[in-house]
Amino acid sequence: MRYVRLFLVQLRASVQVTFQYRAEFFVGVFVAMFYLFWNLVPMFVLWGQKPTIAGWTLEEAALVTAWFTFLRALLEGAVQPSLQAVVEHIRKGTLDFVLLKPADTQFLVSTAKFEVMNLFDAAAAVALVVWALQRLHHVPTLPQVGTALLLTVAAAALLYALAILVISAAFYVVRLDNLIYLFNSIFDAGRWPAPVFRGAWRIVFTFVVPLALMTTYPALALLGRLQASTAVTALGAAAVLPACGNSAMDAPKCSAGAVAVGNASDVPLNGAVLHPTPQANVFVCRDANGYYAVDAGCTHLGCDVELKSAADLKQGFICQCHGATYDANGDKPTSPAPMPLRHYLLCAQPSGTLVVDVTQLGVDPTVRLKI
Ligand code: FES
Repeated sequence: MRYVRLFLVQLRASVQVTFQYRAEFFVGVFVAMFYLFWNLVPMFVLWGQKPTIAGWTLEEAALVTAWFTFLRALLEGAVQPSLQAVVEHIRKGTLDFVLLKPADTQFLVSTAKFEVMNLFDAAAAVALVVWALQRLHHVPTLPQVGTALLLTVAAAALLYALAILVISAAFYVVRLDNLIYLFNSIFDAGRWPAPVFRGAWRIVFTFVVPLALMTTYPALALLGRLQASTAVTALGAAAVLPACGNSAMDAPKCSAGAVAVGNASDVPLNGAVLHPTPQANVFVCRDANGYYAVDAGCTHLGCDVELKSAADLKQGFICQCHGATYDANGDKPTSPAPMPLRHYLLCAQPSGTLVVDVTQLGVDPTVRLKI
């Protein structure tokens, strides 16, 4: 629920930015329509020469183009603006401001900015589907629509994962623009039905950059020409890449300076153990979801907090100096504490020894170390 609220806040900010200059908004709509028209021109030129290309009629190919247009709207409207902002943050050295926020970093950077104008492209894609189906005199059945929608969701997840993988390179190389242009150029090939490509290109666009899965398969599903086994294989393959994308943006690992704070088995379930470290006194806590580390320093004036009940973490923490209390997660501070207790990154070594890294700030308080 918290993340839904955060998403809505970020979306509202993007909408307000889009509508701040009305003239710019209308120019944006015109440019979106112009690009769509210009994308369709080559198709009409090519199919004007021959009734079918690689076995596809103009209307069938238009369905593929519609899916490409929809996914490109998603890419340019919802994925790339945010991720490109990450590159800017890294260049300017301001990513720390994002990392300091008490929420999942990947979520924050992925939803930071939306180009609302791309909604027109998405609407145009739907109109193109309706036009093509009308011309084909084909009314898709419910299972066909369902399969096409399922493949579209899988394609969106794939696109997001690919974009994350590309953007993650920004942590290692500074000039990333060329990589993004390369990615966009390759994605551009998705506007054509996969059978148009021959030999090595077809293998590349099916298995390396799965454009066929993203645009051709949903169109085939809507036409009722996609075999069930192919659809299942495609959905299975689509589940793998997002996992790679997530791991590329995974939470940071503990640095070499992390301090050992005992063995995981020393921390009872629903209990906490206080450990002094050179930088701060830290409670290593364990609840039903796993282990986590919170700074013992009260956020009022810095006295060390204590467990309200030594035997039950669920009762939370109390500061004896001026009476502030916190819940078991160091959250919900009561007066005079102004904010929740700080969380630190907790990692486990193969031996079971826990190490806490007090140098990394902005750790998501909902994250748990599972052992
Ligand atoms: S220092 Fe903890 S309440 Fe004042």
